[in-house]
Amino acid sequence: MTQVRFFDADGRLDRVADAQPGERLLDVAQHHDQPLEGTCEGQMACSTCHVIVQAVTGMPLPPPSEEEDDLLDFAYGAVRESRLACQILLNDDIQAIDIRMPGGSVDASR
Ligand code: FES
Repeated sequence: MTQVRFFDADGRLDRVADAQPGERLLDVAQHHDQPLEGTCEGQMACSTCHVIVQAVTGMPLPPPSEEEDDLLDFAYGAVRESRLACQILLNDDIQAIDIRMPGGSVDASR
């Protein structure tokens, strides 16, 4: 199990969630009311699942693929720690991960 701590764009802790091995970070975020659209549902055709990885406890995340890096170039407010939440698979080697929403996150369903 991975503990996921979600912070808002201002750095305030918003939600703490427990994720099961094999869950995508995008799905965990959406199940816990985080403002990520994930418009393309993980097909790497948008960047609406952009998050900022603040910290990881346990095994480091694998680096982004070239395709993910290219999409992040179009993400609003992207920084060096930016990732696409649909590309992050959680597993038991990742004990905890802190995720911050980038400024300007939009969720049209709210
Ligand atoms: S949901 Fe579209 S790139 Fe992640």
